[in-house]
Amino acid sequence: MTKTDKTLALKEARKVVEFIEKASLTDAEKKQIHDESISNFNENVNPGWLEYRKSVSTDAAFIEWTDSVDHFEDLNGVQFIDCLGGFGIYTCGHRNPEILKTVQAQLSRYALHSQELIDPLRGYLARLTALITPGDLQYCFFTNGGAEAVEMALKLARLATGGRWYISTVGAFHGKSMGAISMGGKGAYREDYAPMIQQVQHVEYGNAAAMEVAVRNLQTVGEKVAGVIIEPIQGEAGVIIPPDGYLTDVRAICDKYGVAMIVDEIQTGMGRTGTLWRCEVEDVTPDIMTYGKAYGGGIMPITGIIARPKMWVDKLIDNPWILGSPTFGGNPLACSAAIATIKFMLENDIPKVCREKGAYFMTKLGELQKKYPTVLRSFRGAGLLICMEFPEAEIGYSVTKGLFERHIMTAGTLVNAKTVRIEPPAVLSDESIGRVIRSLDEALADVKKEYNL
Ligand SMILES: Cc1ncc(COP(=O)(O)O)c(C=O)c1O
Repeated sequence: MTKTDKTLALKEARKVVEFIEKASLTDAEKKQIHDESISNFNENVNPGWLEYRKSVSTDAAFIEWTDSVDHFEDLNGVQFIDCLGGFGIYTCGHRNPEILKTVQAQLSRYALHSQELIDPLRGYLARLTALITPGDLQYCFFTNGGAEAVEMALKLARLATGGRWYISTVGAFHGKSMGAISMGGKGAYREDYAPMIQQVQHVEYGNAAAMEVAVRNLQTVGEKVAGVIIEPIQGEAGVIIPPDGYLTDVRAICDKYGVAMIVDEIQTGMGRTGTLWRCEVEDVTPDIMTYGKAYGGGIMPITGIIARPKMWVDKLIDNPWILGSPTFGGNPLACSAAIATIKFMLENDIPKVCREKGAYFMTKLGELQKKYPTVLRSFRGAGLLICMEFPEAEIGYSVTKGLFERHIMTAGTLVNAKTVRIEPPAVLSDESIGRVIRSLDEALADVKKEYNL
């Protein structure tokens, strides 16, 4: 058990600051960091955590220490090609030098905001975000994490429409705060927290008719629906792509019944699926849109919502703090990262890069699926949001383990255990892509043999 000991805390803090600030570490220091990290996770984070990590074997673990472009590197310089992309945050790569340069310049001026003066970067970022998002999306509210952005979207829908109810979808993932998990579409993450927001109904994803029935029935019995919330592609459910026209139909339902359409672009946005925003594919403008993950350029955490003017009701203008007032939301450092990210994305047409590299991956996966049809059941994707589906979760896990042994990082999705994602940085080099495909070929062959498939 850890007891209060300020003397020890100071000694420990000094030691870690030294590690961080050192240009290089001795072998003894590396071993020390390795051993202490394992013990710290077990004692002070969660002993269960390490059980789930492919990076941990009984006697040694890979401890991440640095990253660059398309890979992570452990304490001993072992490089892992990143096909997980931090669940979608590294679209612009790891420590993208251009974004880093901007953030460092901001850091040398001031890091966090006074909370009283006008912080200009928040305004510039809001303007830029309005310029790159669909239709008349105009007003931004910045937050720190995805779930927090979803909370703001849910609250704004109630505030603007006066409705109370929400319609979400089975399989959805919108984060794990109380409001966000109420919208979540997997029982395991919800059961322990009931009652959450009570006024929510879940309908089948991709089924606009079911959505309309739910809204109509509620309105008919005198309940008012505030909003429907959907991912334009369900990421964590295993990259579930809805039928063509789904977003258009949901838009029409929302217009017909006066309900706010919330589109959660936290994972699909910022180029990941081959367009800057996924809802562009159907030319649909949501009433409220969330964004996050890649928005901070893989360098700073920043998320938020953007809403149409009709959502920005007088009550919110009269009291700008009624929606939320997160201390760190939209801080200058985070805003500088997002501004540099938007610049980088536009200058380098990152959505197009995702589209082209994604198409190449899909061709190669098609070849591998033909070669190993009993192992790789199917695959699907848009841009660089790709997933492979295996007959059993255990088989998918074995493939990711095989990839990991070949120093390729991938992982399953949160809601659907049979699927494994390929969500690399857009800056993944051709050489790395070649290595990923070759390693996958080998891992699939091993698993076919191991399970006698
Ligand atoms: C679509 C979507 N919304 C919300 C979230 C939650 O984001 P965060 O983990 O930053 O709270 C995620 C995370 O995977 C997501 O994919």
